[in-house]
Amino acid sequence: MCAAVVAAVLAAALAGLPRPAAANPPAGTFAERLSGHGGPVMDVAATPTDALTASFDNSVGYWDLATGTARWLEGHRAAVKSVTRLSPTQAVSSGDDFSAIVWDLAAGTPIHRLEGHQGTVADVAVSPGGTRIATAGWDGRIGIWSADGALERWLTGHDGAVNAVAFVDDATLASASADGSLRVWSLATGAETRVLARHGFAINVLAVNAAAGWIAYGAVDGVTRVASLADGTTVADLSAGRRPVLALALSPDCGQLAIGDGEGHVMVVETNGWTVTSDSAATARGPVWALSFADDAHLVAGGIDDSAAVIAATGITAPVLGAVQRPFLRPPEEMDNGERQFQRKCSVCHTLTGGGDRRAGPTLAGIIGRPAGTVPGYRYSEMLSHSDIIWSEATLGALFDLGPEHYVPGSNMPMQRITDARDRHDLIDFLRQNTE
Ligand code: HEC
Repeated sequence: MCAAVVAAVLAAALAGLPRPAAANPPAGTFAERLSGHGGPVMDVAATPTDALTASFDNSVGYWDLATGTARWLEGHRAAVKSVTRLSPTQAVSSGDDFSAIVWDLAAGTPIHRLEGHQGTVADVAVSPGGTRIATAGWDGRIGIWSADGALERWLTGHDGAVNAVAFVDDATLASASADGSLRVWSLATGAETRVLARHGFAINVLAVNAAAGWIAYGAVDGVTRVASLADGTTVADLSAGRRPVLALALSPDCGQLAIGDGEGHVMVVETNGWTVTSDSAATARGPVWALSFADDAHLVAGGIDDSAAVIAATGITAPVLGAVQRPFLRPPEEMDNGERQFQRKCSVCHTLTGGGDRRAGPTLAGIIGRPAGTVPGYRYSEMLSHSDIIWSEATLGALFDLGPEHYVPGSNMPMQRITDARDRHDLIDFLRQNTE
């Protein structure tokens, strides 16, 4: 794995590919922050010169790491959960819209859509030779696809949502599930060949070092363990007790493993003797969902902020994320019921005022009296852009009384009902007063 990553980076450097925004920035100079997303950062895939970020705002950011500027890859219809490099010129991402997308990085456009899962596609992985893509579905299935987007087969056997996939080699895949198991599959036959762990708690994340013969896994109960790929015996137990474990990243030379958790820490372990070289809080509040090494000395980390940060793998002196209080985390007693409804249920996807903020949904500025599907520049679903609804207290009430899936079936709005009439009334009152 480590060697394959290095090869891809070298190939990119040799090909002299155009980078986003700036041409050929020197490797090893890093912007401190990657700012511009309109929602939390769920995953990151970095090289010494660029990074891909997957965000709750439905987009993938393609960053020039020297300048901290991004190009946006737009095409997912819901939150993006995972992103990785497919080749020097292509990436693949997946998310809550039940699909994965192969992107042309130079053009910034989708090339293939990998459809067929019946739930969130929580993780996507690329084989070392770049010939296969694996998708982890919360429908309990794993999709195996060729690099041109054609489905090769479904792998079935997990008893719960599949959270993570990682290739051991081009014909062998490891997978981890909410059913607590870590399994290995032969892609030649589609059969499960080994169960490496029965952990008892959901396993969230994986990192493989095939050359060294181990796989690391992180779980909901705070356990991070390194297991032998041959027989599952424990090579090292790196559990720090902070739960859940949400991110694992291996450095390009495979010498370091970074672990991110729900309490906002990033721990770096040196993989020769499994000693902890750094363990510090990367976020003032909230989890670390996204971690990837840019080079052997730098990590890119993301979480609940609308931005990711570049941090030294040797340790950080103060939290670099989570400094800004997200409105939906404000103490409930500071807000009246209408505002509380909005902050908790809507603010992660909608702003109240227009402006440059990127969010998954269109701004709600001027919503009362506004015809549906008419914010300029926002990419609506066909359903909403062709609707003749005018948003009013009555139509907004119906939207959340019935739920978007019934009131505007086929729209990209998340399924959500507000069944309490007083909550609906207070929310709409709040919107009326704060969106004029
Ligand atoms: C996970 C993200 C998400 C959340 C949470 C969310 N929305 Fe939305 N909303 C969207 C998306 C995406 C669209 C556009 C749907 C489409 O194009 O079909 C949308 C569209 C809308 C529209 C139609 C706007 C227009 O211009 O026609 C309204 C009104 C709306 N949302 C209100 C709300 C309210 C009120 C809440 C909270 C109770 C909420 N939404 C929660 C993502 C979200």
